[in-house]
Amino acid sequence: MKLFVDSASVDAIEALMPLRIIDGVTTNPSLLGREAGDPHDTLRRICRVVGGPVSAEVVATDVDGMLEEGRRLADLDEHIVVKVPFGKAGVAACAALAADGIRVNVTLVFSASQALLAAKVGATFVSPFVGRLDDLATAGMDLIGQIVEIYENYDFTTSVLVASVRGPLHVVEAARLGADACTCPPKVIDALFGHPLTDIGLERFLADWNKTRGGGA
Ligand code: E4P
Repeated sequence: MKLFVDSASVDAIEALMPLRIIDGVTTNPSLLGREAGDPHDTLRRICRVVGGPVSAEVVATDVDGMLEEGRRLADLDEHIVVKVPFGKAGVAACAALAADGIRVNVTLVFSASQALLAAKVGATFVSPFVGRLDDLATAGMDLIGQIVEIYENYDFTTSVLVASVRGPLHVVEAARLGADACTCPPKVIDALFGHPLTDIGLERFLADWNKTRGGGA
């Protein structure tokens, strides 16, 4: 499963790259709006740092506006994937951009029917938001299972990109369900590393070594 960083902070992304576990980045208007400087410049810098797919979202809400903005975003860098919000306009824009060879991530997906439509118009990625469903007492991960099943039934090539991830359990469940990718805020990526037994185990190994062989002999 590919691991993406859900962030628009060049510093935060740069700090994670040496781990060699990051395959791409997702941004959205909320994340990009928090960063200082020109958003297009920030996106270009992220592309250079990651060298993999970087989702950049349109803010237009009509088809023509989405197409114009989407094409401008795609021209920024070869790694840009144009993100469009799900809806009739988003689906039409996805179909047109995909026909031009531009990769599209259909975002704000909350149902299997929406994911089916996104795949039919050639989305490269579909982004179901699991955390926001959990917030409404609806099991977000159930949706991932449904989408994976539907895409497998028809050999759709759209990748399931699990989004709105809140903790390591979402990541593990995404991998068990066969999701193609999972995008995580940096703090969730950090949390994937942690286990108290690893820390205790290392502490004991080092203490034992120092007691026996580490005394300078
Ligand atoms: C990524 O593509 C999404 O925009 C992001 O994961 C949304 O996460 P949130 O629900 O925590 O805002």
